[in-house]
Amino acid sequence: MTDETNATTSDSGAPVESDEHSLTAGAGGPVLLQDSYLIEQMAQFNRERIPERQPHAKGSGAFGRFEVTNDVSRFTKAALFQPNVTTDLVIRFSTVAGERGSPDTWRDPRGFAVKFYSSEGNYDMVGNNTPVFFVKDPMKFQHFIRSQKRRADNNLRDHDMQWDFWTLSPESAHQVTWLMGDRGIPRSWRHMNGYSSHTYMWTNTDGVRYWVKYHFKTDQGVEFFTQDEGDQMCAVDTDYHTRDLFEHIRDGEFPSWTLYVQVMPYQDAADYRFNPFDLTKVWPHSDYPLIEVGTMTLDRNPTDNHAEIEQAAFQPNNFVPGIGPSPDRMLLGRLFAYADAHRYRIGANYQQLPVNAPVVPVHSYSKDGAMAYRTTHDPVYAPNSKGGPAANTRDHGTVSGWYVDGEITRAAYVDHAEDDDWGQAGTMVRDVLDDDARDRLADNVVGHLLNGVTEPVLRRAFDYWKNIDQALGERIEEGVRAKAEETDPKADEQANRARTSMQRKA
Ligand code: NDP
Ligand code: HEM
Repeated sequence: MTDETNATTSDSGAPVESDEHSLTAGAGGPVLLQDSYLIEQMAQFNRERIPERQPHAKGSGAFGRFEVTNDVSRFTKAALFQPNVTTDLVIRFSTVAGERGSPDTWRDPRGFAVKFYSSEGNYDMVGNNTPVFFVKDPMKFQHFIRSQKRRADNNLRDHDMQWDFWTLSPESAHQVTWLMGDRGIPRSWRHMNGYSSHTYMWTNTDGVRYWVKYHFKTDQGVEFFTQDEGDQMCAVDTDYHTRDLFEHIRDGEFPSWTLYVQVMPYQDAADYRFNPFDLTKVWPHSDYPLIEVGTMTLDRNPTDNHAEIEQAAFQPNNFVPGIGPSPDRMLLGRLFAYADAHRYRIGANYQQLPVNAPVVPVHSYSKDGAMAYRTTHDPVYAPNSKGGPAANTRDHGTVSGWYVDGEITRAAYVDHAEDDDWGQAGTMVRDVLDDDARDRLADNVVGHLLNGVTEPVLRRAFDYWKNIDQALGERIEEGVRAKAEETDPKADEQANRARTSMQRKA
């Protein structure tokens, strides 16, 4: 029997006559164009998908809160980081290279994007589960992502092009070492850390500036899948991480992370042994120890994944007073890229959707556009003498910024005393990993290189690893050569012939 209070309606709210039968001219006759409800269902269905994110297409997220547990007000005036403040947030975790339906347990960095609904507007920390990145100039980002996605000819992902790009981009060595190690396949999103990766600027109420890096350390402990476990999970459950997060929150087992920051006094940057704005480098903890800030807890699942997660729009240019960018070129490139992606993917008024709207009133002069929902009031221009919003110039002079001069140029970063592409990667291999972790790293690289990487690229890959660590590089070369000999030479020949012919055609 129909429940009168829950009867189906059309999108305009009128009751519909049937959930099952189209309107026809007689039971055996044609379907009628006047069945507006049928047409509405078909038309809406055709428009259910929006473009997936270019990178980071596969992911999911949840809602929660951030509670400040330590006083860091001497470093930043940002309201959300003041003592005892609690701020609501949404987070989205993701893989980078795969499409929306791709497996959660492929080897890849994971996105760690947090939007804080702060009392001073939205603050977005769009990080990854790694403290570094593959490239350090935004000019190379698009090329890097293309090399990780699909070939033009056969639409397949291709380890040859991945290693081709990496070995021609030695700045990738630190991140590739990290990726090929245990943390390249987290056991779940609950079992991984999140990092800002970039350096940001914090400013306190006196206008004193600091450089900061964020570290969200998982309270569940870091856990990983081996390559075999990850592969097996791909075959059993492509949505394992999505399911794991949803089910733990549903069952009241709320995951949490403790946020720490590394803080560098403004003046230290010029002479620090590593360029502190180079995204391929970390700041060793012994130089800048972790300072606790607070706890992030996730305690609410989305009820509509499309509305609340697929349409969530994170953008590193969402800053609040007391937090700003640094000279990191990648970050500066990102300040443009994300809002541009949202305007294309979601629409001009994406910030009016509930998941993206701030919890504070918006007094912006932006107006109109497709699907405008927030009403505009006169006056529609500034400056005006009609009582419209006027910018608060109180903080002028303490705006986040730094001293710059120099000729306009296209040049690499100026190296600091210990900057090179291999050093920190080598430190990880020799000083951070134990024997078992080093064994797994070597095995993972060998397995990856055996998957269709051509000879000239292979030779560069061996040199790449020897530059990181001589012993590891030799071991990888021996491993690849020994395994290649074990495989059927005829099969190899065929694969090579097919590849060469495809390349020739391309
Ligand atoms: P520390 O000994 O103080 O820190 C080592 C870091 O390595 C810890 O943050 C640890 O993470 C992390 N780590 C442990 N195992 C792995 C793994 N399998 N894959 C990736 N990271 C791992 O040394 P330093 O600060 O002097 O850094 C030494 C090297 O450690 C760096 O060159 C860099 O490669 C790596 N590293 C450094 C980080 C930093 O911010 N300083 C952050 C992450 C890695 P956890 O905190 O979970 O224990
Ligand atoms: C997603 C660009 C570097 C983390 C995206 C998207 C774009 C993009 C266009 C899709 C956004 C969307 O449609 O919603 C870039 C550019 C970069 C860069 C141009 C460098 C110049 C980085 C770095 C990190 C990062 C260094 C981490 C430190 C993320 C995350 C997402 C993302 C987490 C997914 C956000 C979400 O869950 O919606 N990036 N990116 N990106 N990027 Fe980047």
